[in-house]
Amino acid sequence: MKNQKIEGVMYKSIGEFCIYVIKFTKYTKAIGECMLKIDNLKKTFNKKIALDGINLNVKKGEVFGFIGRNGAGKSTTIKSVLGFVFPDSGEMFFKDEPLDQSKFRESIGYLPEIAKFPEKLTAKEFLTYSYSFYKKITGATRDKISQLLEDVGLKESKNKLINTFSKGMKQRLGIAQSVIHDPELLILDEPFTGLDPVGKDGLKKILIDQNKEGKTIFFSSHNLTEVQDICSVICTLHNGKVVYQGATSDFIKEQSSNSLEEAFIKSYSRSGGKDV
Ligand SMILES: Nc1ncnc2c1ncn2[C@@H]1O[C@H](COP(=O)(O)OP(=O)(O)O)[C@@H](O)[C@H]1O
Ligand SMILES: [Mg+2]
Repeated sequence: MKNQKIEGVMYKSIGEFCIYVIKFTKYTKAIGECMLKIDNLKKTFNKKIALDGINLNVKKGEVFGFIGRNGAGKSTTIKSVLGFVFPDSGEMFFKDEPLDQSKFRESIGYLPEIAKFPEKLTAKEFLTYSYSFYKKITGATRDKISQLLEDVGLKESKNKLINTFSKGMKQRLGIAQSVIHDPELLILDEPFTGLDPVGKDGLKKILIDQNKEGKTIFFSSHNLTEVQDICSVICTLHNGKVVYQGATSDFIKEQSSNSLEEAFIKSYSRSGGKDV
């Protein structure tokens, strides 16, 4: 009887230990999992090299800042990932599988550098219309849209025409649209450009919230204060080449600087950067 009890406790402990190992393995795999990988991407426009062998690795759960001067190649990289630009060579992977843009689009949310909106719709109508591309509209959808408008600070303006919106409001609406189908990865091209300080702060909070909800965020920017505030990982691009990829804090230390902006300027001049 006593032996049976000991055996029972033993099996229970072994069982619990196995569950722990499975959960731990799943957890460690999840945080290190590769979300987007780019290998040796090259693109030339009329003999001008725009991308000169880009390598990138965005991991699940990261807020990843893709930084570089105007003309460095950020938008061309993003457009290549999305299939809007055809690269000359190179490979791209989504979650370790070769990137298939037709399937990939359902898993990503995208905000272009210059987002265009149907100005004669209200914010709520626009999001409802956008959602209808993915799924049938139900009562639950309407709740989801109301929640989303609240999350991006447009609750009060949900029934206003988009043509009455400020740049910041449009940008927040663009973020709401990009996450409407609950994508795993958000790709944003210069989301902070043209926003005032309050608008930038609001957008930073939205991106942090989206990341907390489990979304991986990859965005290009030359607003380096914002990048330093929210990105744990960065990639710096100079003239179509990756100069640094890794922890933001390590880059600042490596360049003996106090801020990302200072580090970026030093790194740019050290890499022999020329005027663009
Ligand atoms: N459609 C295009 N036709 C010709 N040149 C282009 C085109 N798109 C981008 N380029 C050039 O490619 C380089 C990289 O541009 P881009 O990717 O837009 O830079 P970034 O987004 O970093 O400002 C620039 O020299 C730009 O002029
Ligand atoms: Mg650009």
